[in-house]
Amino acid sequence: MTIIPVALGSRSYDIQIADGLLDRAMDVLAPYIARDRAIVVTDETVATRQLGRLQVSAQAAGVELHTIVLPAGEGTKNWHQLEKLTDQLLSLGVERGDHIIALGGGVIGDLTGFAAAVLKRGCGFVQIPTTLLAQVDSSVGGKTAINSKAGKNLIGAFHQPGFVLIDPSVLDSLPTRELGAGYAEVVKYGLIDDAEFFKWCEANGSDLLAGDRSAQIAAIGHSVAAKARIVAEDETERSGRRALLNLGHTFGHALEAETGFSDTLLHGEAVAAGISLAFAYSARRGLCDAADAERVAAHFETTGLPNGLSAAGVSASGDTLVGHMQHDKKMEGGTLPFLLARGIGQTYLARDVDLSDIAAFLDEAA
Ligand code: NAD
Ligand code: GLY
Repeated sequence: MTIIPVALGSRSYDIQIADGLLDRAMDVLAPYIARDRAIVVTDETVATRQLGRLQVSAQAAGVELHTIVLPAGEGTKNWHQLEKLTDQLLSLGVERGDHIIALGGGVIGDLTGFAAAVLKRGCGFVQIPTTLLAQVDSSVGGKTAINSKAGKNLIGAFHQPGFVLIDPSVLDSLPTRELGAGYAEVVKYGLIDDAEFFKWCEANGSDLLAGDRSAQIAAIGHSVAAKARIVAEDETERSGRRALLNLGHTFGHALEAETGFSDTLLHGEAVAAGISLAFAYSARRGLCDAADAERVAAHFETTGLPNGLSAAGVSASGDTLVGHMQHDKKMEGGTLPFLLARGIGQTYLARDVDLSDIAAFLDEAA
C-alpha cells in the first residue's frame, strides 16, 4: 500500500494506492463518511463493472449507500447533468460536511467535483478514479469542470477532494483503448522533468498496457507523486509550474476540436499526438535534438498511440488547426503559451511562439 500526501495547508489530503482497495473502500473512507450513509455518483458503465464492489463494502461496514448513475461519456459534463445531479444530491439531503463519492473516470470526477464545489457553497467529495487517466491525473489536483457550447472545461472551479482512493485492479475492466489513452498522461510526467522515468516507460510501457499489475502500480505511484508535487507548488496554475502538466495539450486540443471531441480521437490519444508534435516542433526550432523527438514518437508508436497528425487521422491545414487553438482558454492577450522541450525531461513554457510558424510547421508535418 502506498500513501502519497498532497500538501496544500488546510486543503491537504492523501492519495492511497493498493490493489483490491475498492473491496474495503468503506473501511478506508470511514473518516470521510460523517453519517451511517453515503452518496456515490458513477456512470452507467462503471455501475455495471465496479459499483458492486463498493456496495458490498458499504454493506459490510453498515453504511447505507445511495447511488446516482449518470450516462457514460464526455457529453455528461454539461449544465443539464449538473442541474440534475445537484437536484438529486439536494433531495438526498447532502450536507456540507458530507463527502460525495465520485466513482468513475475523469468525466464523473470533474462533474461530481464541480457539483461539490458549488453545492451549499462547498461540500466535501472523495475520488475513486476508475480509468488510468483519472488515476494518474484528473482525480488529483482539484480541477473540476463542465463543458459549455464555447468549449471544454470552461466552467469550473478549483475544489480539492478530501481523499483519493486508487485501486489499480479496476483497470481490468477498462477497454484497452482507454488504458492506452491514460498511458499517454503517464509518459507525460517523464517528458516534463524526469528523463529516468521516461526510460522506465520505454522499458515497461508495453507490459503495463498488457495488464502487468506491478508495472501499473509503479506507474500510478510515480505519476501521482509527480502530480502531487507540482500541485503543491502551484495549486491554481499561477506560477507556470502546473502549466507544465499541459504538455502536448495545445496541439492535442486542436486535434480533438478537429475530430469533434468524439471517440474518433480520445483525449489521451490527442495528448500523445500533441506531445509528439510539441517535440517535433521543438526539434525544428533547434531547441532539442531531433533524436529526442524521434525517441518520443517511437515510444508512442510502440505502445499503439498516435504520434502525429496522420496517425491521429487528422488532415486539416495548419491554419485550421491554429484556428482551433485560438479558442484555447490559455490564450493571453492574443498569444498562446506553448509547452516546448529542450530535451527529454526538459519541458518549459514558451511565450514567444508565433502562431503562423505553428501553422507552417503543421502543414509540413501533415
Ligand atoms: P471517462 O470518464 O469518460 O471514462 C472513459 C470511459 O471508460 C467511459 O465510457 C467510462 O464509462 C469507462 N470506464 C471508466 N472506468 C471504467 C472501468 N474501470 N471499466 C470499464 N469502463 C470504465 O474518461 P476519462 O478518460 O477517464 O476522463 C476524461 C475526462 O477527464 C475529460 O472530460 C477531461 O477533460 C477530464 N480531465 C480532467 C483533468 C483534471 O485535472 N480535472 C485532467 C485530465 C482530464
Ligand atoms: N491535468 C492538468 C492539471 O491538472 O493541471
